Amino acid sequence: MNEKLSDYISSTGENVNGSNPLNRDNPIADNHGLRMHNLVSNYLEISKPGTGRKNSKSLNADVNSHVNSCKQLDESLISIAQQAKGYIVNGFDLDLAKVLVVDDHAASRMTAVALLAMEGYEVIEADNGSGVVEMVIQQQPDLVLLDVMIPGIDGFQVCQLLKQDERTRLIPVIFITALNDKRSRIRGIEVGADDFLSKPFDRVELAARVKSLVQQKRLNEDLDHAEQVLFSIARAIESRDPNTGDHCERLVALGKAFGKYLNLSRNEIRDLMWGGYLHDVGKVGIPDAVLLKKGNLTPQEWEIMRQHVAIGESICQPLRSMQGVIPIIRHHHERWDGSGYPDQLEGNQIPYLAQIFQIIDIYDALISERPYKKALTPKEALAVMAAETAKGWRNPQLMKQFADFINTCHSSDSL
Ligand SMILES: [Fe+2]
Repeated sequence: MNEKLSDYISSTGENVNGSNPLNRDNPIADNHGLRMHNLVSNYLEISKPGTGRKNSKSLNADVNSHVNSCKQLDESLISIAQQAKGYIVNGFDLDLAKVLVVDDHAASRMTAVALLAMEGYEVIEADNGSGVVEMVIQQQPDLVLLDVMIPGIDGFQVCQLLKQDERTRLIPVIFITALNDKRSRIRGIEVGADDFLSKPFDRVELAARVKSLVQQKRLNEDLDHAEQVLFSIARAIESRDPNTGDHCERLVALGKAFGKYLNLSRNEIRDLMWGGYLHDVGKVGIPDAVLLKKGNLTPQEWEIMRQHVAIGESICQPLRSMQGVIPIIRHHHERWDGSGYPDQLEGNQIPYLAQIFQIIDIYDALISERPYKKALTPKEALAVMAAETAKGWRNPQLMKQFADFINTCHSSDSL
């Protein structure tokens, strides 16, 4: 058992005897990680001025000096990226906004088209609900003005489909209803409508509501883009280590399956899945000399390596959608007996999702083959983890649930 324990290496680059698995044959050039860190930080600072680094005080002076040295290069990259996208972050007016009007009554539709065109919008039209979802996916309007009663599928179904689709969910939908049609308004709220307008249109009201929602959509898109950048950075970090393969993808699948097994809520399962991608995003701020070092790390280098959890937290902190993932990022190296880091939390002081995530992270590392170790069988991996649990490192009850889950999966062959 001791031999197996000494083979244990988590995805964090640590094993029980203190060596670093990320140091094997990695060809990435020096300071690549620092440039990536700076890119993310600058991007977030533009999206949320003044909040991008509020938790980064713990970074040591050495890391900061390297980060600053790359600032000019990264600002140039961001500027180029913004120019290519054709808009300024948090800006609004540089793109002509496009509005789709869906109404089977020609006169009513033409009125809306004329009013919106006068306001300077590009307007596209549809007279039934059948092809609207496809049209929205292809044309990507900034807003949909949608009549409730239209041929084909009705407006409620169209709205529901748009709000369920990742490609169209951020596009605001305004329902056109009769003035006192309370039932339609309630149904509209249920399917995700963003606002309502009554016929006949009031030009000022139409212009004000459309402008407000298009503006809101642009702001939401900026946040969405920031999330996408984070996931891209996380994938880039994973690709720096040729030994881990599809570790993150496997963590996402395992997190989803175990989360369902534990009857977690939809949001908790989403946070667990996002944790699979983002738990080590803070490694962008770890110098390559430490992250990719061959041989054992010194105590000082371990100190730097352990900062990846605080760096990851500070990167994700400005994004509201990341609030459920941040406890996983910060606490995935805590231990049940308080011997972990960064806060030496004990027992259920450790956020529950971080406890769950740590178990699947370690399990996947154990059952995966690396150049420096063989893959353990599920049974062997569970035995190693049971031994570590007996040492006090993990929640015994949760560990038992995980072992039951893995045994169930393998007996039914469903994972
Ligand atoms: Fe980690």
